[in-house]
Amino acid sequence: SLRQHVPKGLRSPPGPRGFPILGSMLELRKDPHVVLARLSRQYGDVMEVRIGTRPVLVLSGLDTIKQALVKQGEDFMGRPDLYSFRYVTDGQSLTFSSDSGEMWKARRRLAQNALKTFSITPSPTASSICLLEEHVSREAEYLVTKFLQLMKEEKSFDPYRYLVMSVANVICAMCFGKRYDHNDQELLNIVNNTEQFDNVAASGNPADFIPVLQYLPSRAMKLFVDFNKSFVHFVQKFVKEHYETYDKNNIRDITDSLIEQCLDKKVEANPATQIPKEKIVNLVNDLFGAGFDTVTTALSWSLMYLVIYPDIQKRIQKELDQTIGQERRPRLSDQGTLPYTEAFILEVFRHSSFIPFTIPHKGTTRDTVLNGYYIPKDRCVFINQWQVNHDEKLWKDPLTFNPERFLTAEGTEVNKVEGAKVLIFGVGKRSCAGETIGRWQVFLFLTTLLQQLEFSVCDGKEVDMTPVYALTMKHRRCEYFQVKQRFSMRSMS
Ligand code: HEM
Repeated sequence: SLRQHVPKGLRSPPGPRGFPILGSMLELRKDPHVVLARLSRQYGDVMEVRIGTRPVLVLSGLDTIKQALVKQGEDFMGRPDLYSFRYVTDGQSLTFSSDSGEMWKARRRLAQNALKTFSITPSPTASSICLLEEHVSREAEYLVTKFLQLMKEEKSFDPYRYLVMSVANVICAMCFGKRYDHNDQELLNIVNNTEQFDNVAASGNPADFIPVLQYLPSRAMKLFVDFNKSFVHFVQKFVKEHYETYDKNNIRDITDSLIEQCLDKKVEANPATQIPKEKIVNLVNDLFGAGFDTVTTALSWSLMYLVIYPDIQKRIQKELDQTIGQERRPRLSDQGTLPYTEAFILEVFRHSSFIPFTIPHKGTTRDTVLNGYYIPKDRCVFINQWQVNHDEKLWKDPLTFNPERFLTAEGTEVNKVEGAKVLIFGVGKRSCAGETIGRWQVFLFLTTLLQQLEFSVCDGKEVDMTPVYALTMKHRRCEYFQVKQRFSMRSMS
């Protein structure tokens, strides 16, 4: 029977009963983050729903989520073994595969070290403070030129396709030491079609919860499988090239640095972390994959908010003019000196909540208790970030877009306590491995673009802000963007 034996004195989490077999699937098809947020008001922060044939624990409320993922981090750090996740990086993904023990820990450490070395570590060779700053500045500058050129030639344009190539070029440079032309079809095919991945990887994908669907033809699933194949193929080519030209005295990028780790005997000395070589080098898949879609989506939502709230855009530009001026470009070290701009970014994260659920978690190898409820081991867990970011207990008028909510009373600083309530990178052991890099990129791309360009949409055109549910929620593409140069290039030295 599906009923678990619940130890004395403990209760199973409450929740809606749902229909037999389908569970709550029918209600959850559209905007499950909103539906589950509504249900959590009735059933509480710890709630159980049945999706298809599977019981799923849904966690809401910032304190409850921190209790589970931080204080009881060990109990909730697993990933469920979902059908669709087996197709990501041939089932070996750091992010999506179900290993979460010593192997995952060691791989995550390797990935994070390699990432850090080629992004935010102060660089003696780069012309900027670090490689991340160098790459982002170059790509943002390219975008400014590209947008102005598109304006001249087309009178309006869809920024997404260009944003995604620029952001992909940043992570490409760090991972593979390579930059692509914006018209490169192979890279464009991958980065411009992430919906094929995001739709199936979203929490609550039907085939993951109703096993019989795995045997029926599905267009979404076929696109997902093909996307993963092209992705692995794309990355494999670089890995092969890097092995052929590897020189231990000249570690060029993240791929080289992972190859170096493979050849390093120390990694193998610890028996608990005998990581097979291919599981070291293929970490670059995870870094490259996680590195562009998220940042692009953040930037793209930002541009949407900027054009529907022109006064907010003007205020950011005023702050940029007063603090940075026009004689130099923004730098990463300007972080902390542009409170309104930083409040705007936080409000984009909160209001859009474009990653509504984290990637699903799973209880690990032991049963546990959360807020007095009994949680059997291996339970699949959804973390509702959208609910936290729209919780009336935490936010005044949560549906209103208002960057000022993140400023101190004097308006001269970001209120750190408020900022820390926004949940978009997850928390705890499984939280985003690229959080700092993600935040810094969004900051530098946006400030560089807004220092030079004013964004708007063509007269009479409306932008559609409706998010489309997925792992990373996007808005509909908008081809009516326009830009104006804010001051002449000649005033820049
Ligand atoms: C995982 C958000 C940028 C690498 C995650 C998760 C979220 C997230 C919500 C899942 C957390 C969980 O399951 O509890 C974001 C956002 C970004 C961003 C909002 C940008 C604005 C990046 C970047 C990189 C990166 C730039 C790397 C270059 C990863 C990795 C994981 C991850 C490797 C998997 C961690 C694991 O399973 O152990 N991210 N991310 N992310 N992110 Fe990010």
